[in-house]
Amino acid sequence: MKRPVKNNIGWVGKIDWELRRFHGHELSTHRGSSYNSYLIREEKTVLIDTVWNPFAEEFVHGLAGEIPLEKIDAVVANHAEIDHSGALPELLSRIPDTPVYCSANAVKSLRGHYHRDWNFQVVKTGDRLALGDKELVFIEAPMLHWPDSMMCYLTGDAVLFSNDAFGQHYASEFLFNDLVDRSELFEEALKYYANILAPFSPLVTKKIRELLSLKLPLEMICPSHGVLWRRDPAQIIEAYGRWAAAYKENQVTIVYDTMWDGTRRLAEALARGIGQASPDIRIKLHNASRSDKNDIITDIFLSRAVLFGSPTINRGILTAMAALIEEVKGLKLQGKKAAAFGCYGWSGESVQRLNEGLKEAGFEVMGEGLRALWNPDEAALKAAREWGAALAASF
Ligand code: FEO
Repeated sequence: MKRPVKNNIGWVGKIDWELRRFHGHELSTHRGSSYNSYLIREEKTVLIDTVWNPFAEEFVHGLAGEIPLEKIDAVVANHAEIDHSGALPELLSRIPDTPVYCSANAVKSLRGHYHRDWNFQVVKTGDRLALGDKELVFIEAPMLHWPDSMMCYLTGDAVLFSNDAFGQHYASEFLFNDLVDRSELFEEALKYYANILAPFSPLVTKKIRELLSLKLPLEMICPSHGVLWRRDPAQIIEAYGRWAAAYKENQVTIVYDTMWDGTRRLAEALARGIGQASPDIRIKLHNASRSDKNDIITDIFLSRAVLFGSPTINRGILTAMAALIEEVKGLKLQGKKAAAFGCYGWSGESVQRLNEGLKEAGFEVMGEGLRALWNPDEAALKAAREWGAALAASF
C-alpha cells in the first residue's frame, strides 16, 4: 500500500492543508485537517470511512489506484457526518451492491443526507465481521459525538478505528504521533476535545471505562482526523479521561468586548490585580470580537475561573459576548467559577445579563460583579485591581 499503517492496513484518506473553517464557519482549523480512510486487505477487503465530498472524485481515483474497486468486499461507515461519508455516493455509484456496515442511527443519517438506499448492514456493539484470520469488532459510541457514531477494532493487529474520538484537526504529511511535534499535536487534540466533545464528557468517561473493561490489547488508535496514535496509544485515552472529568488548570481567562475601551481597561486592571495576588496563575485575556472564538473556548476549558465583561448597550450586552455565552451554554463545562464586569453610562444592565448567562451555562458565579460608571477613572481601576485580587483568593 502507498501509505502503510500496519501489516495489511493502509491509509487512503485526504490531507486537507487548506482547511481553515470546519462545520460551516463554526470551528477554526488553524493547522488544516485530514479525513482518514483506511483500507484493510485481509482475505476480505474492507474500507473504513471515506472523505469530505469536495474530495470524493480524488478519493475514489486514488482508491482505484490501490485496488480494483470491485474487490472491496465491504465498507464500514463509522459515522455519517459529511466529512467521513461524503465520498460514499461517488464510491457506491461504482460498486452499488457493496454492503455498508453501520449503526442503526447511521442508516437514518445516511438516508437523510444522501437519499439513497444502499446495502446497509446494521451492526451493534459486539457484532463481528470476519476478514479471514482477523475480525472487525464493532463498538457503538452514541453521542461521541453524533447518535450514529461507532468505532471498530481489528483483532490480531490490535488497532482501534475510533472515528472522531481521539482525533485532531491537524494536517501532517506524516501519519503517526511519534513523527510530529508533540506540543502542536496536543494543542490540537485539546482544542478538538474542548470545542467538539466537551458537551459529552460523561459519555466519554463511560465509553473509556467500557473500552478498558474489554481488556483488548491496543497497539494503535486510528482516528478519522489528524495523526494516528502509534507510540503509546493509551496516552490519548488517559488524556480524554482527565479532560472529561471537570478539567481545569491553574488558569483564569478574562473575556470581554468593549466600545470605547472602558471595559478593556477594567479587564486589564483585573488581570493586574489577579496577577499581583496570585503570581503562579496563568492569565489569558481575549477581546471576544478579535480573538478566535474556538481559541477562547479552549482557554475557558483550561481555566478554573472565567471573567466575562461587556459594557451595556440597549439594556443588554455586546453581540460577541452574547454569542460566546450561547456557545458555552452548549458546552456544559463543569466545575468552573465565574464573575462579570462592565462599564455603563445610564441603565447598566450588562453585568446582570452576563451573570444570568454564566449561571445558565453552569458556572458558579462569584458575587454580583463589578460595574464602572462611564470611563473608569483611577479610583475605578484601583477598585478593579482590588476586586481581581479578592477574586483570585477564591478561584
Ligand atoms: Fe469528523 Fe463528526 O465528523
